[in-house]
Amino acid sequence: MYLTDDSSNKGSRNCYYRETYRPQFHYSPEKNWMNDPNGLVYYEGEYHLFYQHTPHDTQPDFGRMHWGHAVSKDLVHWDELPPAIPPGEDGAIFSGSAVVDKNNTSGFFNEEGSGLVAIYTNEGNRAQPGKPQVQSIAYSRDKGRTWTKYEGNPVLFPMETLDFRDPKVFWHDESAMWIMVLAVRERVEFYTSPNLREWSFASKFGSDIQHIHRGIFECPDIFQIQVDEDPNTTKWILMLSVGDRNGVNPDDPEPPAGGSGMMYFIGNFDGKAFTLDETLGSYDAIKWVDYGSDFYAAVTWNGIPNEDGRKIWVGWMNNWRYGTTLPSEEWRGKMSIPRELQLRTYPEGLHLIQAPISELSQLRKPILSLQDLTIKSGMNVLSDISAAKAEIIAEFEISTAVEFGFKVRKSSNQETIIGYNSSNGELFVDRTKSSAIDFHSDFTAIHKAPMKPEHGRVQLSIYVDWSSVEVFGNHGEIIISDMIFPDLESRGLELYAIGGELRAVSLQINDLVSIWGTENV
Ligand code: FRU
Repeated sequence: MYLTDDSSNKGSRNCYYRETYRPQFHYSPEKNWMNDPNGLVYYEGEYHLFYQHTPHDTQPDFGRMHWGHAVSKDLVHWDELPPAIPPGEDGAIFSGSAVVDKNNTSGFFNEEGSGLVAIYTNEGNRAQPGKPQVQSIAYSRDKGRTWTKYEGNPVLFPMETLDFRDPKVFWHDESAMWIMVLAVRERVEFYTSPNLREWSFASKFGSDIQHIHRGIFECPDIFQIQVDEDPNTTKWILMLSVGDRNGVNPDDPEPPAGGSGMMYFIGNFDGKAFTLDETLGSYDAIKWVDYGSDFYAAVTWNGIPNEDGRKIWVGWMNNWRYGTTLPSEEWRGKMSIPRELQLRTYPEGLHLIQAPISELSQLRKPILSLQDLTIKSGMNVLSDISAAKAEIIAEFEISTAVEFGFKVRKSSNQETIIGYNSSNGELFVDRTKSSAIDFHSDFTAIHKAPMKPEHGRVQLSIYVDWSSVEVFGNHGEIIISDMIFPDLESRGLELYAIGGELRAVSLQINDLVSIWGTENV
């Protein structure tokens, strides 16, 4: 059953969205399989979240993949709607994007004046033997509630490769054209169109860059962003998801946490081609989006009004290495919290910043707020707190402690450690003892990221939910996103320091109230 807007109805169902491991402030589908976010678009007061969805199974059915659908007015509370675009003779509906065609360039909206157009990959189109992946479009005249597949589909065919997918489309003002960036195995290709129906090849990028071809590219995104929030200085960022296997060069390194992961490139885009700011000479020059293992296929929302102007995205909190084996039962797959993106100048150069969207603060229920506290080895100032979900915002001044941090979702035999090692400058999440079930050998891991203190301080914002932690280090400079599967009873919290002292400059802990309206734990 799909939800309506009636929150009183949700509240009356006691067990609703409270199954084992069910995320309380992250989106997950009511039932069955979900992977990539698709078609993220803001239109007439609603944020749309479409996604790869198998509505009939908790496993992905790639032959019958649908676009699932949810809408939100605030990016925090979501209403799940029936699947938006089903598969058919045209094949499965793989990942893609959606745009607001506000000037009716497509000609689909002669009466309405504007509407939504979805651009997606058809996988296994029966009418196109030998070309298993083609691009198709569909349009909606009723705010995304019903969709009509364009009779002239497919609108774009591959020249040669089997991997030709995941179109991200946006309107490029300067050239007055629609631009599509597409993942084409070891490269991305750019196409342009005046009307979303006819596409011309413009350029390609990525084949000749070394060290980045361990997996094939998937779900690209490209957008213009201000540098240091200065409207007069902008750059373009190209985002790439890199698959777990079937890569072009198996000797190339994996993403930091293994399996599938995301990288980004900073440069310029002139309406036809993306050019990198600097050549990538070594593996160390690759810019990783997230040092945890569970943030993939993230793309940004189209259509956010200029008055708002934020770049916001959401990613699939999972990893293709073990994604189909997760121990949740009714559903499988969840989204990250939506994050705001910024590009900031550091001594080493430009760097992507991710911060939880400010809208999340409406869920806060304060638990504790402290300032200026000395933490010593062997003491736990948080021993009275019990929390299965929480927001922890802290700033520490490094003193003699060689390692410090938080242990969350703790019990006698479970804990997830979010720590900072001051001797080698590493932020880490240790989930080796995080979970009740040992469901995959690659899940049990410690994920580390290099992070320097800023003026002798380390800042952490941590989001703990029933089955995940997302750690934003130094105001979003370094991110580690990881799923965990503790027992619901594992709710202990610890602030620890090893080998010396530490000053907590400030520490705030909030509960985040369930977005499903069924709060009582
Ligand atoms: C990425 C991906 C996409 C594809 C979709 C299929 O996770 O492999 O490339 O379109 O998932 O569900």
